[in-house]
Amino acid sequence: MNFTYAHYQESAAFLRAKLGGFQPQVAMVLGSGLGYLGDVVENPIVVPYGDIPHFKHSTAPGHKGQLVFGTLAGKPVAVMQGRMHHYEGYSLQEVVYAIRVLRLMGCATLFVTNAAGGVNWKFKAGDLMLITDQIKLFLESPLRGENLPEFGPRFPDSSYLYTPALQDLARKQARKLDLDLKEGVYMYFPGPQYETPAEIRMARSLGADAVGMSTVPEVIVAGHCGMEILGFTLVSNMAAGVLPQPLSEQEVLDAAEAAREKFSALVLACLEAL
Ligand code: HPA
Repeated sequence: MNFTYAHYQESAAFLRAKLGGFQPQVAMVLGSGLGYLGDVVENPIVVPYGDIPHFKHSTAPGHKGQLVFGTLAGKPVAVMQGRMHHYEGYSLQEVVYAIRVLRLMGCATLFVTNAAGGVNWKFKAGDLMLITDQIKLFLESPLRGENLPEFGPRFPDSSYLYTPALQDLARKQARKLDLDLKEGVYMYFPGPQYETPAEIRMARSLGADAVGMSTVPEVIVAGHCGMEILGFTLVSNMAAGVLPQPLSEQEVLDAAEAAREKFSALVLACLEAL
């Protein structure tokens, strides 16, 4: 499906009609098992993805598949509880569709979160990582095809996708919370199979600190339409081959649950400090 600007406008108009004048400023994408922040949004207006024109469902485990509008840490937010992934069979344009709609609704900032495998030897499961940059190798661009100049240029710069000032803000909040915030490069793998140990060795040699199956498409599109971006990875497991045990989906969800308190504290502190 090739979306035109009119499709995005139609979805945004549908949502605006539900919000009674509420104007979100920060869009948040909550990854595997991290959707609980959406449950503490104040005065929530919940819209299931299935109700919104042109939206797709999220079928991934730990992803609720709804948008929650309301206030979080004093800021007007639009929280995506669950995201769409390329491995679910969606086109990249479908995966990133909501980001453009939220941009049209007035969100100038994007918080992205994910669970990912730790590649950096210094990491351990349960660590939080500030995303400083990303690598996309095995994926065409979500911007492929006709450019929609209403959103951004044909050849957008990618030098500062993760906004430096927001990275600084996150470092400062982590220090205040006495939280050990790792930093690094997130590398996209298409999944849904976890990577092989050989792929992880390759990722490490290419400069990756964590690997996962999301985030990169959304960030490319958010950068294209001029959003400021802050990204956090929960290292839910060490990537394939780092430790002797096999990887499992349950381990990812359990790690997300175990990190709940510190992850929420950091994200809320960053929101508040915006
Ligand atoms: N690889 C890819 N995606 C992931 C992983 C991983 O090890 N853990 C959580 N999401």
